[in-house]
Amino acid sequence: MTAENTLNEIYSKGRTLIFGHRGAKAYAPMNTIPAFELAAQQSADGVELDVWLSKDGYPVIIHDDTVDGTTDGHGNVQEMTLEQIKALDAGSYFDATFAGKRVPTLDEVFEAVGKRLIINVEIKSNETRRVGIEQVVADCIARHQMQRRVIVSSFDPRVLKTFREIMPEVPIGYLFAPNYTFFPEVMETLPHEARHPYHELLTPDYVNNLRGYRINTWTVNEPERVKELIELGIDAIITDKPDMAVEVLHASHR
Ligand code: G3P
Ligand code: CA
Repeated sequence: MTAENTLNEIYSKGRTLIFGHRGAKAYAPMNTIPAFELAAQQSADGVELDVWLSKDGYPVIIHDDTVDGTTDGHGNVQEMTLEQIKALDAGSYFDATFAGKRVPTLDEVFEAVGKRLIINVEIKSNETRRVGIEQVVADCIARHQMQRRVIVSSFDPRVLKTFREIMPEVPIGYLFAPNYTFFPEVMETLPHEARHPYHELLTPDYVNNLRGYRINTWTVNEPERVKELIELGIDAIITDKPDMAVEVLHASHR
């Protein structure tokens, strides 16, 4: 199995796929199991999520490099153990009805929704990033036999290069946004299957220039824009509102 074969399988429906951003971020606490479950209930094809490595080496699903924004705790994710992270409430920041929801591990997400959803694993990175996260993510994918159901993306080409060396059969996607591009020269020599550009970059010309890559774009929350991108033939749309995007998709195929 090659990454290209895997990607063809993922896109075998022959239409734009809808991915819930951090789950169904508009309706549930981001990057939690309820948010991923909700995306599945809303008929998303997949979900996008963010992964960091805890101090003791677990892949934890949280967006920021600190726990401050989405939990009742404080501190840098990479300096906290899984036990410390698991003690936090990751639901109340969103709404009291989600009180007590926890930061999941990647294993827990695969167990909960891996059979129903394609998972776009975004590996987070910064200047203090923990070396070794790529191996941990690859081991987790292998443990759950998710090789044919994941796309690994990152803004950091160093991460993609390392991951590709470890797990060449899994497709990789290069994330980028205006003024938020790192080490583009690394990507010039790294074969990759998908591009993950910020959606405002996507004009017809721009899309033409990306021929040969699958295009998975983010974060699209307006129905008119979803419609335009479907008409442009974009491969996948990542949205905080999977229900809205699925409805637009169905309407455009009627
Ligand atoms: O993967 C798409 C998008 O999630 C990238 O940006 O900041 O939302 O993780 P961010
Ligand atoms: Ca993300």
